[in-house]
Amino acid sequence: MIDDLWYKNAIVYCVSVGTYMDSNGDGIGDFEGLTRRLDYLHGLGVTTIWLMPFQPSPRRDNGYDIADYYGVDPRYGTLGDFVEFAHGCKQRGIRVIMDLVANHTSDQHPWFQQARSDPKSPYRDWYVWADKKPADADKGVVFPGVQDSTWTRDKQAKAYYFHRFYEFQPDLNTANPHVQAEILKIMGFWLQLGVCGFRMDAVPFVIAEKGANIREPAANYDMLRTFREFLQWRQGDAIILAEANIPPELSMEYFGADGDRLHMIFNFAVNQALFHALATADTSLLAEALEQTRQHPATGQWGQFLRNHDELDLGRLKPEQRQAVFAAFGPEKSMQLYDRGIRRRLAPMLQGDRRRLELATSLMLTLPGTPVFRYGDEIGMGDDLSLPERECARTTMQWSDEPMGGFTRSTEPKRPVIAEGPFGFAHVNVAQQRRDPQSLLNWTERMIRMRKEVPEIGWGEFSVLDTDVPGVLAIRYDWRNNSVLMLHNLRAEACEVRLDPEVSGSHDGLLINLLSEEHSRPEEQRRHRILLEPYGYRWFRIGGLDYLLRRDEI
Ligand code: NOJ
Ligand code: CA
Repeated sequence: MIDDLWYKNAIVYCVSVGTYMDSNGDGIGDFEGLTRRLDYLHGLGVTTIWLMPFQPSPRRDNGYDIADYYGVDPRYGTLGDFVEFAHGCKQRGIRVIMDLVANHTSDQHPWFQQARSDPKSPYRDWYVWADKKPADADKGVVFPGVQDSTWTRDKQAKAYYFHRFYEFQPDLNTANPHVQAEILKIMGFWLQLGVCGFRMDAVPFVIAEKGANIREPAANYDMLRTFREFLQWRQGDAIILAEANIPPELSMEYFGADGDRLHMIFNFAVNQALFHALATADTSLLAEALEQTRQHPATGQWGQFLRNHDELDLGRLKPEQRQAVFAAFGPEKSMQLYDRGIRRRLAPMLQGDRRRLELATSLMLTLPGTPVFRYGDEIGMGDDLSLPERECARTTMQWSDEPMGGFTRSTEPKRPVIAEGPFGFAHVNVAQQRRDPQSLLNWTERMIRMRKEVPEIGWGEFSVLDTDVPGVLAIRYDWRNNSVLMLHNLRAEACEVRLDPEVSGSHDGLLINLLSEEHSRPEEQRRHRILLEPYGYRWFRIGGLDYLLRRDEI
């Protein structure tokens, strides 16, 4: 049972094929290159690869504009290369999940081409049309500043079509049973080729009622149950990880009260509160977000992340809270995006400060849920703010200090390479960090190894302990008579945390440090005094029990 629900304690790593490794020297990453890097990922401890969209696409939105759901973009290889990759993963015990973009297609997709050119085409009703421009067409745009409407007139169709995102991404009419059946068919196809589930794009929009003049679109949650049922009939261990930036009070609707809808949801509420905590050293908002997202069904799980391929969306924070994060991590206009977020990568936001990078990563690994890494963060990669919108944080993986960072042997890479500055490949690369036992890469590998030995985080009940020390987040997990305690000091000053035995729950006293030999022995009255360095963190197992010896009892 514990291992069946593999996603409860997975180490997920998000990778985009085109920017990872180019095997044939044409300047674009490909499946063969990625396959060659599987031993690297395996060594790092990754258990699940999340593949960003790789299907044929005009790539006007990083591949989230799909023109054929049943293929591989020829720039990345062939279906055969995909299967070799999936097989390579299987051999190493790595699972693959892939993006499932069901809310919209590319306007180049043959379905849309037929829909726009022939009102009688069966595909006409696969999209969402209106004769006149709806009055609220300028409302609800996802990319303010770049997109000014959600309805665009199509000359050929002589009608307006709905698009939640860019105008080249017409929304699918997901209420149409044929569209729903097609979504299942797409899932079935890739399951057959070896994936173990899907990162489902834009879920709230997939299930929203769509059409002209709908003021408050109803959500069709039942669609989520249909997806899950289908998946589990086809393959019992397949999952959906939802991209759903939803208010916490809706989360049980998405998980399903009986655990019959989504398996996993990215925890956007915690993500925003986490960056607020990193920016201000005030952990109260984070503790609140953890509380608000405490509830999930037994088979449900949160995905915890730091950064992804989009902007750091701070839209759920109050204006003054958002300003505090902007001030700390994205003070310049060029660092901000869509009036709500920051488009930088993690390492530059934290000024490459190793202590803060460790703190942030340690938090991600120990917050309730399953950690999701963004490729390159394990070596502290940077961004290129001269690139438009979110492209700045989608540069190529930095493997070495060879030309083009070892990403390609082409002298004309077709994806941006960071060659200059402190985050350029000369300074930040895998080859150099691999040789250095103290590097961020090797530190991350050790932390991942230990995270796998702490299943309490994925399975247990958590409590946020009151330490009375400002800036310290103390989380305790309990699961099957095992307990761990995670301490994080978000402040730039050292502090001392005192733990009462009742609070730490330490029965025989000892707190075993999981990351060093510095265990904490209680003083008088079984009280602990723990000194945390600036941005310091501790992972303790409570009670001195040797978990590894007790593994069989779990
Ligand atoms: C969410 C994806 O993460 C983002 O990159 C994309 O632009 C939109 N969905 C539209 O697919
Ligand atoms: Ca290539």
